[in-house]
Amino acid sequence: PNEPPVVFHWFPVIGSTVTYGMDPPRFFKEHREKLGDVFTFVLLGRKTTVCLGPAGNDFVLNGKIRDVNAEDIYTVLTTPVFGRDVVYDCPNAKLMEQKKFMKVALTTEAFRQYVPIISEEVTSYFKRTADFKAQSGVVNIPPKMAEITIFTASHALQGKAIREQFDESLAALYHDLDMGFSPINFTFHWAPLPWNNRRDHAQRTVAKLYMDTIKRRRANPELDAQDMMFHLMNSSYKNGVRVPDHEIAHMMIALLMAGQHSSSSTSSWIMLLLASRPDIMEDLYQEQVNALGPDLPPLQYEDLAKLPLNAAIIKETLRLHAPIHSIMRAIKQPLHVPGTKFVIPTNHVLMSAPGVSASDPVFFPNPDLWDPHRWLPDSPNAPTLARAQDDEEEEKIDYGYGLVSKGAASPYLPFGAGRHRCIGEQFANVQLQTIVAEIVRLFKFRNVDGSNKVIGTDYASLFSRPLEPANIHWERREK
Ligand code: HEM
Repeated sequence: PNEPPVVFHWFPVIGSTVTYGMDPPRFFKEHREKLGDVFTFVLLGRKTTVCLGPAGNDFVLNGKIRDVNAEDIYTVLTTPVFGRDVVYDCPNAKLMEQKKFMKVALTTEAFRQYVPIISEEVTSYFKRTADFKAQSGVVNIPPKMAEITIFTASHALQGKAIREQFDESLAALYHDLDMGFSPINFTFHWAPLPWNNRRDHAQRTVAKLYMDTIKRRRANPELDAQDMMFHLMNSSYKNGVRVPDHEIAHMMIALLMAGQHSSSSTSSWIMLLLASRPDIMEDLYQEQVNALGPDLPPLQYEDLAKLPLNAAIIKETLRLHAPIHSIMRAIKQPLHVPGTKFVIPTNHVLMSAPGVSASDPVFFPNPDLWDPHRWLPDSPNAPTLARAQDDEEEEKIDYGYGLVSKGAASPYLPFGAGRHRCIGEQFANVQLQTIVAEIVRLFKFRNVDGSNKVIGTDYASLFSRPLEPANIHWERREK
């Protein structure tokens, strides 16, 4: 009786799958106008209830463990790709401990080492890649950003030895793992389809490679760098059990996969948006010249804090193009939505879409305008609520892997909130800020037709990204 209103549809199982799937943000906005912040639609035969707005974000993302559950939904996709006993193939309490282990390798001290590594990967990429040999040209940018993301992330997080294998067999294996992440696998994850067989083979091969590396490192402790693998190898669960090798291997896969799509999609959007606004790309260059000096010395971690516009580029791009547009949870007992009369039954899937509040004019003036300057002082488009400006000032909570923002009532949550909140935010920021700063030093971009247009979004895979081909015109900057 007190169930949320349902989006009208003609066909029972298909329901709203097609209209939602083509453009989830538009779907949410349209139906929110008619039905309010809480409504139900049919997605692949399942009743799905979305809770929008800051209150909805908080309700879903800070749901109690006895009420909502992520692993029931995600495990069919993630377990075959990552492997057993990690992330969503274990009880939530174990995931919280695993997130704590992973975070140990993501400290300021580690980031200090990562910035030069990332810088070097970016500059050497543009030196050796055939498509960038000339003085200027046109390039479909997303595949290039995907390569730069994997080279920079693997080198920083997984070390030089693993990074080198990405020039050879590892790239193809990770590609096969990726294919496991297609939305149709929510239904066909188990099926002996060719891409699932390749996925399973790739999982076994990559896991073995990491496990062999772990064995070698245990046998030769003098080899050891203080990297992610080192920290995982030296972690123990609260019950005293040392993290087994297969779990370390599977966490290494999970970390790389979690970072890859989100960062590569975000950096692709940044490059396309800069091509649509060459004036902002120029502002970024001037910011570096002013803050670091006209000779632009090699970039250091400390320099990033001196480049507020460079940081705002990432913040603003994630406001409009967060790669994760829909976050899902299973419902463990009937859920009353605070402030409403609605009760959501356990046979529904619960959904959060923080991108909706992030593009709501109530919180962000001219919400559809990509305006990085809005995050800097004195902008007419500054976020209207103090709390939208900075979720750092929000209430904090510890779910077992360190203090995180509750995100309660924040309209801006590209990294989620609560117990499943991203642990990769700082790494992603360091990685993206370094990549952007290095590219701005090397190139001027513009749209091929010189316009301010921005390409549409491809929602066909689980992570949204630019439609391809997404061509830009590049020109080397003469120093
Ligand atoms: C979780 C976004 C980069 C590792 C999440 C969640 C979001 C998110 C929204 C919450 C998912 C949920 O509640 O169901 C992003 C974005 C990124 C990014 C926008 C880059 C721009 C990274 C990187 C790493 C990473 C680089 C690893 C180094 C994780 C992990 C979780 C997570 C381990 C926890 C999953 C859980 O507890 O259920 N991320 N992420 N992410 N992310 Fe990220």
